[in-house]
Amino acid sequence: MENPYLPYPVRIEGIVTETEDGNLKTFKLVFLNPEHEKKFSYIPGQFAELSVAGKGEIPIGIASSPTEKGFLKFTVNRVGLVTKHLHNMKEGDLMGVRGPLGNWYPWEEMEGRNVVIVGGGFAFTTLRSSIIYMLHPENRPKFKDITVVYGARSPEMLLYRDELADWEQRDDIHMHITVDATDDPDWKYNIGFVPAVTEQKLTNADDAIAIVCGPPIMIRFTQPVLEKLGFPSERIILSLEMRMKCGIGICGRCNIGDQYVCKDGPVFSLARLKELPNEY
Ligand SMILES: Cc1cc2nc3c(=O)[nH]c(=O)nc-3n(C[C@H](O)[C@H](O)[C@H](O)COP(=O)(O)OP(=O)(O)OC[C@H]3O[C@@H](n4cnc5c(N)ncnc54)[C@H](O)[C@@H]3O)c2cc1C
Ligand code: FES
Repeated sequence: MENPYLPYPVRIEGIVTETEDGNLKTFKLVFLNPEHEKKFSYIPGQFAELSVAGKGEIPIGIASSPTEKGFLKFTVNRVGLVTKHLHNMKEGDLMGVRGPLGNWYPWEEMEGRNVVIVGGGFAFTTLRSSIIYMLHPENRPKFKDITVVYGARSPEMLLYRDELADWEQRDDIHMHITVDATDDPDWKYNIGFVPAVTEQKLTNADDAIAIVCGPPIMIRFTQPVLEKLGFPSERIILSLEMRMKCGIGICGRCNIGDQYVCKDGPVFSLARLKELPNEY
């Protein structure tokens, strides 16, 4: 049996600085051993533990899509010890990836339905994975309308700006990009908080599932908007970010009631969360 704590060695093939403050970078990682790539078979919504030698391991959502072959992508916010060291690494450096971990968005339930994606800030990572996955020619016919509301504090804080511009041009996805504020006279998208833009742009919840990822305050104010639109709590899907260590349901670091966020989540329906103690 393989040791579940052993990371796969990977090489950093590319680094993109996403935001103008330099605090968010996307790392493109390539497996040193192609067998490991085959074993790392993931579904959008899952995460992995990234390890930096001698510094530690951190849970990070997988930002690439399984339809993108040959590499993994992770977008990392520089906040503390491990993320700071990761940000100082260079192309060609080696590190580790352990996973894939956790559960995923409910793709079987989403098939044949309208899909609404609501994201804020840097939590958009697994939503990027989901959008790329759904727009793949083999997958797009499986979903009805796809609507995305994505917001950041300012235009400079939006992730994946080239891809957002491409998706804006397509007619098989409805994009509503927004920023809290800007003094850019050329800004052509929305200005306003994500919950308010969601309320303006969505008209109903007919046959739709909503996936919501963002800072707790955005989630708190988006939830009643979706409920008012008619989304039952079973069809509001959230992804939680708790402190984690093992990532595989052994250390007991991340539990809410009897649920381990690393193993039973990080994706939960709002209906399921309402049954759990309010510790998240
Ligand atoms: C399932 C999951 C997916 C995640 N996906 C991403 C992602 O895609 N991109 C990303 O940048 N971050 C993501 N995070 C958060 C990321 O794991 C933490 O920011 C990281 O572990 C911090 O490590 P550090 O050593 O740099 O910080 P530390 O030195 O350990 O701490 C620095 C600061 O960050 C806070 N912090 C540490 N861990 C967490 C955490 N798990 N959640 C919230 N705050 C934390 C601490 O309270 C402290 O204020 C995710 C977390 C989880 C559980
Ligand atoms: S992180 Fe160890 S049980 Fe979840």
